[in-house]
Amino acid sequence: MRSLIDIPDFSVAEIDALIATACDMMDHPDQYAEACKRKKLATLFFEPSTRTRLSFEAAMLELGGSVLGFSAANNSSAAKGESVADTARTVSCYADIIAMRHPKEGAALVAASAASIPVINAGDGGHCHPTQTLTDLLTIYREKGRLNNLKVGFCGDLKFGRTVHSLINALSRYEGIEIVLISPDELKLPDYVKQDTLEKSGIPYTETADLEGAIPTLDILYMTRIQQERFASREEYLRLKDSYILDLPKLADAKSDLCILHPLPRVNEISVAVDNDPRACYFRQVLCGKYIRMALILKLLGEDGAKPAVDGESVEGLCCHNPHCITSCEQELPALFKKTDNGVFRCIYCETKAN
Ligand code: NCD
Repeated sequence: MRSLIDIPDFSVAEIDALIATACDMMDHPDQYAEACKRKKLATLFFEPSTRTRLSFEAAMLELGGSVLGFSAANNSSAAKGESVADTARTVSCYADIIAMRHPKEGAALVAASAASIPVINAGDGGHCHPTQTLTDLLTIYREKGRLNNLKVGFCGDLKFGRTVHSLINALSRYEGIEIVLISPDELKLPDYVKQDTLEKSGIPYTETADLEGAIPTLDILYMTRIQQERFASREEYLRLKDSYILDLPKLADAKSDLCILHPLPRVNEISVAVDNDPRACYFRQVLCGKYIRMALILKLLGEDGAKPAVDGESVEGLCCHNPHCITSCEQELPALFKKTDNGVFRCIYCETKAN
């Protein structure tokens, strides 16, 4: 039984195979109409979602399976104080596979280690979102015909934007990738992504606050919303919320084959006037989400394999101080850390530097 907690759980060959299956599903949906007959997907969404939950459900229905689940924490026993691990153990008795979204970082890892069925991370706080990444990769592949030799700009909330963290992680394994990080100072990419992904894989990257200046050089522009729900202070959110608004004048010097992506929901960061530009790919991206999740469900239901390892060491005096980490609200979880190549200890659940 295999789970998908973060993108490195899959090799590049496996990701490429998923993309190929998703493309085949787009061309021949009838051939997959009974592929998951009598199988059940549980969607456990402790946090709001439109695309991710509904695309998972649509994917399972298209495969001939059925779905059950909840779409808000207050509709589940979490509201009574049940732990993520106990919920995962319980749902393992009713379903064949789980897709779970949770506001705390590391929650999906905890669920997968307790469940006896595959768990798919549909977003854990501001940490990662591997199925959005698979969606993004399928979209890029279909729009550009390749996943290598691309200059990719990420714009907006790079600190809390989990889709950004996972997509950078995935792209760093392809050849010829260059990254431009466009954000206000307060919302820069977390250290662990910069050090453990970009620097470790030698991906060239630059940081800037200037969207307009960066656009003409890009092959892909990945816009993101400012993640209101993850801010400690409302004032800070209000100050930063309109940091970037992509409109047609800003695209004046963009490449004619620029591919504009956005995981959605859009709040204000792409003007609706851009929607009719052929370079706006974000609604085609939504459709890709259903097909790649069909391919993913089929793969995980068909595979044996080990549960994700919750391996780390407990280090005396070391704590994770990240208030968004699952260990901050589920105190019975052991505090475990992993030493990175540059000697830093990171929490195994949220990857924040421990001290
Ligand atoms: C993203 C998410 O939930 O992280 N949405 C999605 O899954 N398509 C992006 C966001 O909420 O801003």
